[in-house]
Amino acid sequence: MTLEKKNIILGVCGGIAAYKSCDVIRRLVRLKANVECILTKSGSKFVTLLTLQTLSKNKVYTSMFDTLDTCTWSINHISLAKKADMIIIVPATADIIARLACGRSDDLLACTVLASKAKVLICPAMNSNMFNHKATQTNIETLKSYSYKFIMPEKGILACGDSGDGKLAKIDVIVSAVEESCK
Ligand SMILES: Cc1cc2nc3c(=O)[nH]c(=O)nc-3n(C[C@H](O)[C@H](O)[C@H](O)COP(=O)(O)O)c2cc1C
Repeated sequence: MTLEKKNIILGVCGGIAAYKSCDVIRRLVRLKANVECILTKSGSKFVTLLTLQTLSKNKVYTSMFDTLDTCTWSINHISLAKKADMIIIVPATADIIARLACGRSDDLLACTVLASKAKVLICPAMNSNMFNHKATQTNIETLKSYSYKFIMPEKGILACGDSGDGKLAKIDVIVSAVEESCK
């Protein structure tokens, strides 16, 4: 199948697994999706705007207060929210999960998700204690009750050296879930 004419907004958050979002972009672009990335401030400590821009062949959004598109004068978070067929967050930090569960809109990614009626797919990656903490699990349950879908992390050796839940799901699994949702 192809993802031709599908607009996918990819949120990239601040975790070590952010480098894996590059592979997700490559795979989705190969399937002909239009991928537009929102890189959080913390995400930009882990991957560069230039890498995401080059792989997606699109502008990368980093701030709610970027200058407006001078052709349309549209407000970024609203235009991204409206054009999205799907929003995926890879990797999703404990923090973005908490922000979304509270309905926060204090950065471009959270604001775009809140303003959108598109399907949302969240792919968490974090230390296993962070993932298994009641706060994170409660936030995940809250987001599931909003019909957001999750691709749960795997068990494995984590970047911090611990072993347990929290390793980002395999790229194949993430891409297949996007294909399934876009059918
Ligand atoms: C080296 C390093 C690695 C981190 N890895 C993760 C991670 O894998 N998962 C996570 O939830 N937070 C991780 N954090 C913490 C987040 O970067 C932090 O909570 C940040 O506020 C997330 O912001 P964002 O959700 O807007 O990207 C890490 C921080 C550092 C310094």
